[in-house]
Amino acid sequence: EKQGFKHFMLKEIYEQPGVVRACLEAYFNTDWNAASANNNSPINLGLPAELYADLEQIQIVACGTSWHAALVGKYLLEQVAQIPTQVQYASEFRYAPSPLTPNTLTIGVTQSGETADTLAALAMEKERRQGKEPKYHARLLGITNRPESTLGHMVPHIINTLAGIEIGVAATKTFIAQLMSFYALALDLAYRRQTVSSDTLEDILKGLQHIPKEIEATLESQEHLTEQLAHDFAETTDFIFVGRGINFPIALEGALKLKEISYIHAEGYPAGEMKHGPIALLDAKVPVVAIAMPGSVYEKVISNAQEAKARDSRLIGVTPVKDGEAAEIFKDLIPVSAVDELLSPIVTVIPLQLLAYHIAARRGLDVDQPRNLAKSVTVE
Ligand code: F6R
Repeated sequence: EKQGFKHFMLKEIYEQPGVVRACLEAYFNTDWNAASANNNSPINLGLPAELYADLEQIQIVACGTSWHAALVGKYLLEQVAQIPTQVQYASEFRYAPSPLTPNTLTIGVTQSGETADTLAALAMEKERRQGKEPKYHARLLGITNRPESTLGHMVPHIINTLAGIEIGVAATKTFIAQLMSFYALALDLAYRRQTVSSDTLEDILKGLQHIPKEIEATLESQEHLTEQLAHDFAETTDFIFVGRGINFPIALEGALKLKEISYIHAEGYPAGEMKHGPIALLDAKVPVVAIAMPGSVYEKVISNAQEAKARDSRLIGVTPVKDGEAAEIFKDLIPVSAVDELLSPIVTVIPLQLLAYHIAARRGLDVDQPRNLAKSVTVE
């Protein structure tokens, strides 16, 4: 039931702190101490050592929002665990797979566990590796919210994303849960391969423990603000979302959420790509949402935002409150907590979900059942 919320989507957005807590409890050993001499990983995914042994490469197949979660996963697996990682659209990969590489882990990400393209890509991967020498054998891992699904029966190992059933067609809490799976996987690999110091690892783990509270704070401060902001976009026909680094996939996700439920044309770009074409679209009628979180690409995003401002675009910043510079550039600020850059996607996606929700609700649309979309796409 909707428990007083107007739509399931809004209820599910609000369930996200609880989902993150459930994932933290299930995947992370909180009493783990990096300084202790024991050899237990701080992460507990229940995956066998042979899945990780001599791992040289990871390839991930997924569709839609799950593909966006996979892109955040790629950032973590490469930058934290130092494993070359490719992310492919399942619908493309199944007809044009990459050449076989040895010691490769293939991950299928699908919240429903029923997406035809993702299942077919995994089946193809299993088949084409059969009969090859051992180092080419398939190592398959599923990340799903439904372990009882077709995917659950098809692959030998899964990470259960623990979001609880999601009714709104637009994925929200299952996306957050997929992100949590990738944090756990990347940190587990980083621990085992010793690609980060114990101090860094401990800092990241501590930061993760604070995330549910940060999401709660974001929900509390953003709900009214995004609802107000939604009033201004009744006539808007195009939106651009930009981010860089670990927040580039969040720009894609913000755009997808908006187009799915509000039917407004929206695109996400890595902010540095704007000048290579899309900037020609900008004028006073096209708002630009920029995700600008402190860290390695902050200055770059701000300067990309300035370029958009010079084209008269209305600039909406998803950025920490206290920042004077940001406050000057952005016409509208959607303030978020200044969390560590590496953890920031779990926080920055929240106001984008709310913004999409409020714009669609304001337009009087069927938020939970958008036109032309199904909760799981079981046909090709
Ligand atoms: C977005 C959305 C779709 C799904 C996609 C994959 O809100 O719901 O883009 O993410 O159809 O679905 P799963 O994860 O079930 O494979």
